[in-house]
Amino acid sequence: MNNFFYPLVKDPYSDSDIKEAKNILNSRQLTMSKTTSKFERLFSKKLKTNYSLMVNSGSSANLLALQCLINPYRKNRLKPGDEVILPTLCWSTSLWPIIQANLKPVFVDINPITLNIDEKQIEAKITKKTKAILLVHVLGNSCSMDKIKKIKKKYKLIIIEDSCESLGSKYRNKYFGTFGDFSTFSFYSSHQISSGEGGMVCCKKKEDYDIIKSLRSHGWSRGTSFEKKYKSNKFLDKKFIFFNSGYNVRPTEVSAAIGLNQFKRLNLMIKSRDQNRKKIINKIKKNKNLMNKFDFYGASKYVTASWFGLSIKIHKKLNKEKVINILEKSGIETRPIISGNFANQPAAKKYNLATNQKFPESDFVYKKSFFIGLPTNKISKRTLNKIEKAFEKAAN
Ligand SMILES: Cc1ncc(COP(=O)(O)O)c(C=O)c1O
Repeated sequence: MNNFFYPLVKDPYSDSDIKEAKNILNSRQLTMSKTTSKFERLFSKKLKTNYSLMVNSGSSANLLALQCLINPYRKNRLKPGDEVILPTLCWSTSLWPIIQANLKPVFVDINPITLNIDEKQIEAKITKKTKAILLVHVLGNSCSMDKIKKIKKKYKLIIIEDSCESLGSKYRNKYFGTFGDFSTFSFYSSHQISSGEGGMVCCKKKEDYDIIKSLRSHGWSRGTSFEKKYKSNKFLDKKFIFFNSGYNVRPTEVSAAIGLNQFKRLNLMIKSRDQNRKKIINKIKKNKNLMNKFDFYGASKYVTASWFGLSIKIHKKLNKEKVINILEKSGIETRPIISGNFANQPAAKKYNLATNQKFPESDFVYKKSFFIGLPTNKISKRTLNKIEKAFEKAAN
């Protein structure tokens, strides 16, 4: 019986994470409070973003960024039907917040080397209605942010960086998530840091911060510039002023405590994942039976990657289903690169997105690539040997 298991993520919580969570439980302050604010401040300070707000998931972070763009309090708000460009290789909730904001998603194929949007194909998709580009930084890597900056300037576009898979990656030594007008992060359990469920939305302008803050919590004014504005209105209780529409996508204080504790170890975890990645690649590249059968996606020019996982491309003669089947049976958990070409998903068809359009590179990546996890603790020799053996089986 095979009892070897190499999961996507293995118990991502340290003893000190659990201790921090217990402290919060003991304090009885479970709803969003000071620890959340502390995490947000530290996040902004480290990444050098102007404003950060923690939410209950990366999906909620995307939702609030897109809802902010159409909010009536925003001076340059987008109108129904305005277009937002995004790559076909995306997550479902990179896409749906665009539709939920009454905006039109316009898919662009990816570059099969970077796995990110193909910058060269963007301009052909720009119309008078194009107002924004939503980038999805895939598994720790990005496209050329230099090219994106040029396109942004030329067409006066808003940039949203879905960095849910890429916390800690840098482009020209600047953190992902600091190039766009908005950026989003996920702290779901397999991501660079984990708070169980959780996410962060960042923005550059105070105007957007106030809107997002109110959207996060019922549309009320607490902690925003609007608090003062209605203070003297005798028909309003100053603690319960609802000046905007809203949701409730707040994190719990427990998630914030775990997220904050993990965030303090981010650099160590990035280093560890990177070392483990190099070890696996070395092992496979040194094996004569494997070196020509598997290839590995690297970082784009100017990117210092904070790897989410190890993305692997199989040789054209290998069958991915077969390879994955054998790896899974040998105890190695695998995942597709995000969700493959999202235009192929039944939901995209139901909503008539990208009908009759072709995205060959995204299809190719889906057909020939997948990824495996990278642990944050040192990978053992035994594990490395087991991985090698599993790949040998899969390559035959
Ligand atoms: C690119 C991307 N965006 C958004 C999300 C959503 O994040 P969450 O699972 O925290 O809602 C994910 C989730 O993995 C993702 O990979």
